[in-house]
Amino acid sequence: MGKILTAYFSAEGTTAGLAERISKAAGGDIFEIAPEEPYSKADINWKNPLSRCNKEKIGKKDIPIKGKVEGFEEYTTVFVGFPIWYYGAPNIINSFMKQYDWSGKRIALFATSGGSDIGKTVGKLRPYVSGDYRIIAAEVFKPDADITEWVKGIVK
Ligand SMILES: Cc1cc2nc3c(=O)[nH]c(=O)nc-3n(C[C@H](O)[C@H](O)[C@H](O)COP(=O)(O)O)c2cc1C
Repeated sequence: MGKILTAYFSAEGTTAGLAERISKAAGGDIFEIAPEEPYSKADINWKNPLSRCNKEKIGKKDIPIKGKVEGFEEYTTVFVGFPIWYYGAPNIINSFMKQYDWSGKRIALFATSGGSDIGKTVGKLRPYVSGDYRIIAAEVFKPDADITEWVKGIVK
């Protein structure tokens, strides 16, 4: 089995904690998908129609990301984590997926949410993923969920 990467975006820290535990259990490397322009509290106030998150969502905006994953082609299993935003992955995840060739990779998606399940997240993400890849798992977890068995099922 090749190298393992856990890549995650987290605006408020919840997914970050989960990602760290998944990465520890899985082994391999970790990469934070961080926007060049960090999100402030006001930026992610979805109750304000004019907030940044709502504008990005409506405008289907690409989100510039800080840095790149070095040696991405060497990874064969990639965990990708994010908070559920508007019943799917945040735009920054679309931007992240678009940056790389996913050929030959096994992708495991994980998320945290305020209550939504994974829903149609996988199908919504596929248009942004290129190459001959496989999405082998996709799950929403509570922040303190025991992820050991889930990770074991992926990293055998
Ligand atoms: C812009 C925005 C949209 C959200 N949309 C949803 C949603 O559709 N369903 C849901 O259950 N939670 C939604 N949430 C809540 C987050 O998914 C939840 O708080 C998540 O755990 C935050 O993760 P983080 O701390 O890693 O950023 C939304 C939060 C934000 C900021």
